[in-house]
Amino acid sequence: MTDPEKTATLSYDGKSFDLPVYSPTAGPDVIDIRKLYADAGVFTYDPGFTSTASCDSTITYIDGGAGVLLHRGYPIDQLASKSHYLEVCYLLLYGELPTAAQLEDFETRVTRHTMIHEQMHNFFRGFRRDAHPMATMVGVVGAMSAFYHDSTDINDPWQREVASIRLIAKMPTIAAMAYKYSIGQPFNYPRNDLDYAANFLHMCFAVPAEKYEVNPILSRAMDRIFILHADHEQNASTSTVRLASSSGANPFACIAAGIACLWGPAHGGANQACLEMLKEIGSVDRIPEFIARAKDKDDPFRLMGFGHRVYKNFDPRAKVMKQSADEVLDLLGIEDNPLLQVAKELERIALQDEYFADKKLFPNVDFYSGIILEAMGFPTSMFTPIFALSRTVGWISQWKEMIGDPQMKIGRPRQLYLGETQRDYIDVENR
Ligand code: ACO
Repeated sequence: MTDPEKTATLSYDGKSFDLPVYSPTAGPDVIDIRKLYADAGVFTYDPGFTSTASCDSTITYIDGGAGVLLHRGYPIDQLASKSHYLEVCYLLLYGELPTAAQLEDFETRVTRHTMIHEQMHNFFRGFRRDAHPMATMVGVVGAMSAFYHDSTDINDPWQREVASIRLIAKMPTIAAMAYKYSIGQPFNYPRNDLDYAANFLHMCFAVPAEKYEVNPILSRAMDRIFILHADHEQNASTSTVRLASSSGANPFACIAAGIACLWGPAHGGANQACLEMLKEIGSVDRIPEFIARAKDKDDPFRLMGFGHRVYKNFDPRAKVMKQSADEVLDLLGIEDNPLLQVAKELERIALQDEYFADKKLFPNVDFYSGIILEAMGFPTSMFTPIFALSRTVGWISQWKEMIGDPQMKIGRPRQLYLGETQRDYIDVENR
């Protein structure tokens, strides 16, 4: 990995320091600054980690300029069109596409873990009915540490494996239960005769009073949404999972931390915010007003579903998602969907606008996903939980990679301190 031909030299305070350079298999070279503080007594400064590689990884590669997203080397559009979610899970977790026998074994293992401990049902009942399903998920996933003691020892590879399978298997059950609880309907137990996506739709939409048949077209679209969100390199929630687990915390607590981070509107919460924005815009003639607001420096409003820290050309997931939105609406016979009209026109106008072109702002994965999910019958509050359940495999794969790395250290960033220097305490009567 170290490239002996290349070194970086930093000059500071009259001295120069040679820093090793690593050449990745793809992407920009990386300068190793780990010894900088010991050798030069200085820190580097990079709030928001815009130029900092926090780890090495072999899972996902993004070329933001070219709009490339690869999982273990395979392009996302090929995976979305040819593979299915559990196969992608296997690929992310173990590094290679499975053989037919490996896939069957993996699917059986996941399927056998879909139920949650019966006593966990009481946890759901402790929440207010109007709790956001993300709030419920953060709590219930964290509570898994209290139920699955036989898979919390991170030093035991077998326990790590069991925790991984449990999280992938139970997350749809937990998300669906959070939804059912919020609308006052009875929970549905998982059905192991259905595939992963179809079972999730069943748990969300079946009611005891009626027979529910999963529409295979919708379950395929659901599966594709899961694939498109499965992993995304060292984003905010994944880095949160890594940082939380660097202290040795158990996997359920770490994934709960990831869910909490994902919830924010600048990250996974953008899909809910985007659909709410499209509804607020309401009709094509109001688009210029919202574009003007997005460009106004004094207005905090941003076009939700637009922009990305890494993609500066296009988000390859958004391309597949847009195509999926067209297909799903078409198959459901939803013609002239006003939200889709607004979304398409908003995208067209924004892409022609100098402000968005200059800042390289393009629709991201969240721009179209909400339209599909709403057409399927999900309320906006379920959009981010669906993202969380899809991303669980990415968090788990990155967690496993990190725990298995002998170089693992607790994450401990430093700071540029700008506060008061030492001063003496003053008694309250003298202040
Ligand atoms: N609408 C209007 N202006 C925007 C937008 C937007 N959606 N996104 C960025 N900008 C502008 C900023 O105001 C800033 O302008 P300035 O340089 O004049 O100050 C510039 O573009 C750069 O923006 P930053 O916030 O510095 O870029 P950063 O890489 O930190 O943020 C982010 C990326 C958070 C995704 C941002 O584009 C955003 O808030 N988008 C809307 C929310 C969203 O869709 N998030 C989902 C991301 S994808 C995901 O998590 C799955």
